[in-house]
Amino acid sequence: MSKVLTLTMNPALDISTSIDKVVHTDKLRCAAAKIQPGGGGINVARVLSVLNPDFPDACTAVYPVGGVTGQLLMQALNTEGIRSHAIKTLGETREAFSVHETTTGKDFRFILSGPTLTEPEWQSCLDAVIALTQTGDTVVASGSLPHGVPDHFFATLAAAIKSKGARLVLDSSGAPLKLALEAGVYLVKPSLRELEELTGQSLETDAQWRAAARTIVQSGQADIVALSLGDAGALVVTLSQTLRAQAIPVEVVTTVGAGDNFVGGFVWAMHKGEPLDRCVAYGLASAASAVMNRHSNVCEPDVMRALYPKAHVIKED
Ligand SMILES: Nc1ncnc2c1ncn2[C@@H]1O[C@H](COP(=O)(O)OP(=O)(O)OP(=O)(O)O)[C@@H](O)[C@H]1O
Ligand SMILES: [Mg+2]
Repeated sequence: MSKVLTLTMNPALDISTSIDKVVHTDKLRCAAAKIQPGGGGINVARVLSVLNPDFPDACTAVYPVGGVTGQLLMQALNTEGIRSHAIKTLGETREAFSVHETTTGKDFRFILSGPTLTEPEWQSCLDAVIALTQTGDTVVASGSLPHGVPDHFFATLAAAIKSKGARLVLDSSGAPLKLALEAGVYLVKPSLRELEELTGQSLETDAQWRAAARTIVQSGQADIVALSLGDAGALVVTLSQTLRAQAIPVEVVTTVGAGDNFVGGFVWAMHKGEPLDRCVAYGLASAASAVMNRHSNVCEPDVMRALYPKAHVIKED
């Protein structure tokens, strides 16, 4: 049975709360805080876990942890039934703090910078995920790289995962993303901003999005480009298919983690062997469920299943 490994090099303990209005100077007496494990790959593992609760062995979250915050992060994942392979670091795991302003619906998100990893620390993360990967597995690397980790990190990972006969799904940005694409990945999920950064061009029209995604697959940098477009849905391009879907219209409470839920739903379906159009539909349904979820940054399986038929994925060409 193949499995999914997620890699989160810059995890965070997400602390969220709400208040009627955010103002400067005054003490802001917030509602009770909610603490959740966070960071791209960790969120993807959480999505896979809620969608696949009977098979906790099917997914392992790999990530560096340090200090008291790191302990809390591991505990929080353990409570959610997620299997962790954590690599100890000297630096303290970061916290991310978000405040939902109830009168406006705005989110204020404060991301702390996090620790600097030493070479032996990031090398241990790389070694761990490579050692755990077997032929046919899927590795989801998501999120930014912490200070101290070189830009070629995901490129080195991409080459190693490919040589093991496994698939790398990458959701990151900047130079590390660009170098990884030069090495070649299975699936890349840029946002529009990330795609513009990659191409160095501003991409305004549907036609420009298609052309940019096609260039990536035609040059062998990725088998699948899944461009997520926020409330405009997604465009998914492979060598043989172009799929376009609008976002499922839902009442949006927060867009925190929308991208991770899209990747989680997509990879969950891919892992079950679903065809590409259904993977896209599950990605959209999972993301739509997450953006309307007041209680957590991840989707709710029942809501996700109810939304799935509302995803209309149009095959072009
Ligand atoms: N307002 C919205 N309404 C419905 N669905 C949405 C909305 N915003 C996002 N989504 C869904 O979530 C998916 C991913 O969102 P988006 O493209 O914003 O990801 P992202 O930029 O990677 O986000 P982040 O990195 O902040 O999690 C979209 O393809 C869409 O299906
Ligand atoms: Mg994103």
